[in-house]
Amino acid sequence: MEKIRVETSAIAGQKPGTSGLRKKTKVFMQPHYLENFVQAIWNGIGGAEGKTFVVGGDGRYFNDRAIQVILRMAAAGGASKVIVGQDGLLSTPAASNLIRKRKTDGGIILSASHNPGGLDEDFGIKFNMPNGGPAPEDVTNRMFEATKAIASYDILEAQDVDLSKIGTTSLGEMDVEVVDPVADYAALMEKLFDFGAIRELFARGFTLRFDAMHAVTGPYAKAILEGTLGASPGSVLNGVPSPDFGGGHPDPNPIWAKPLVDLVMGPDAPDFAAASDGDGDRNMILGKGVYVTPSDSLAVLAANAHLVPGYAKGLAGVARSMPTSGAVDRVAQARGLSCYETPTGWKFFGNLLDDGRITLCGEESAGTGSDHVREKDGLWAVLLWLNILAASGKSVAELLGAHWQEFGRNFYTRHDYEAVESAKANAMMDGIRGSLDTLVGQTFPAGGVTMADEFAYDDPVDGSRSAGQGLRVQFDSGARVVFRLSGTGTEGATIRVYLEAFENDPVKINADPSEALADVIETAEAISNLKAITGRTGPDVTT
Ligand code: G1P
Ligand code: ZN
Repeated sequence: MEKIRVETSAIAGQKPGTSGLRKKTKVFMQPHYLENFVQAIWNGIGGAEGKTFVVGGDGRYFNDRAIQVILRMAAAGGASKVIVGQDGLLSTPAASNLIRKRKTDGGIILSASHNPGGLDEDFGIKFNMPNGGPAPEDVTNRMFEATKAIASYDILEAQDVDLSKIGTTSLGEMDVEVVDPVADYAALMEKLFDFGAIRELFARGFTLRFDAMHAVTGPYAKAILEGTLGASPGSVLNGVPSPDFGGGHPDPNPIWAKPLVDLVMGPDAPDFAAASDGDGDRNMILGKGVYVTPSDSLAVLAANAHLVPGYAKGLAGVARSMPTSGAVDRVAQARGLSCYETPTGWKFFGNLLDDGRITLCGEESAGTGSDHVREKDGLWAVLLWLNILAASGKSVAELLGAHWQEFGRNFYTRHDYEAVESAKANAMMDGIRGSLDTLVGQTFPAGGVTMADEFAYDDPVDGSRSAGQGLRVQFDSGARVVFRLSGTGTEGATIRVYLEAFENDPVKINADPSEALADVIETAEAISNLKAITGRTGPDVTT
């Protein structure tokens, strides 16, 4: 086996976004594209020499080929060991757990999360740090700089490593350890939750449907929910991972997991339903006749986590990304917990978790997690809900209704405008940015503007500043509108408009969300001129 140095040159556009480098699969398959970026990862972290890494992905198209390249480049870079999930599979939270548990120097996760997979769809790669969390901006910036300066990469000439068998083999001087992707993760879940109580819940006839959306959580959900906890066989739907996610869009929201929403709204509704995304870090929570918004889910979990063994001693604090609704803030205020508002992207929670400032955190984009790993965790959220339902004896609808009565309700929706011409999206953002100063004091259907700014975050742990994190407009009614451009899109620009209204009148809290948010939607258009500038008449996706 020979180590070779391949001459290459910089490829434009290899800048990691909200969650690593995401591009069309065919872009990643271009000569040198993946190799350049992997070399830039090594260069960005001070080399691979003597290090141990975890590598795995969500099984999407090109996952298997990319892993073989990464293994050969890790070996050429002098890494001492790579731990890989069997068949190259690891959910993102399971990878985060392995990185931490095995005290490695980090890991590479291959996924484009909830984006579709396939030759004509999306692929992605990101580096996670030894704490198990996504690389922070200073590290991803170093990687980006390395992509611009690259002149060569090192790779071993070798046959593919057999990733189908558990055990350790070698690749040149480097060990390759193939592990069961589920085992360590399942053990962690068993430590956090009262599996006995959840087992009893199922034994009493409680029904569940978990839609794995043909993505990576299938094997995890089958082993834990059906295997260990005794949910009836068939409770896990679409449980076999496929490279193109069965041709679907593995995003657990009411649009892409519509059949599941239809099921819970119909006569054969199970007691509880949930879905996860391509790489297993997102979740959607449903009950009989009810959809729980991710922002509400975070708030309900924060208010009830003490009922669960892993969180029985209480929460250190909570955090949410800026566009996430303020529902969890109200829980924090009532319970005397500190509450942090961070920019979009899980990486911003890392320092707060590492520093012990927060225990739970979440994003409106169906991400919820805790200090057990350094990624959001879809199946964990499902188990936390199940444990709370078992401990409280309440249904999802009862728990949610009681929550709104106690804390008030933050009605919430997000409108996405996809593949907008970048120039138009930027023009719209510039227009709002330019009017921020004059908005305060003006009155709109959503109320009088009390605050309007471009969000910037000062990390309280390392003092770093992240500017330009979205435009927010706050109203005296408790309503809020936020405008942001996506950092994960792969085509043109995606405009996200986040819309929120607050209500604490016990009668009005049961209103239809679209009615409760009508004024806020009208206000967002008045402030942004989105329709006129982009030519769009309505959002592509509403969640
Ligand atoms: C989106 C979500 C964000 C999430 C990220 C990765 O990023 O909005 O909350 O952390 O995906 O899953 P965006 O495309 O908005 O930059
Ligand atoms: Zn994901």
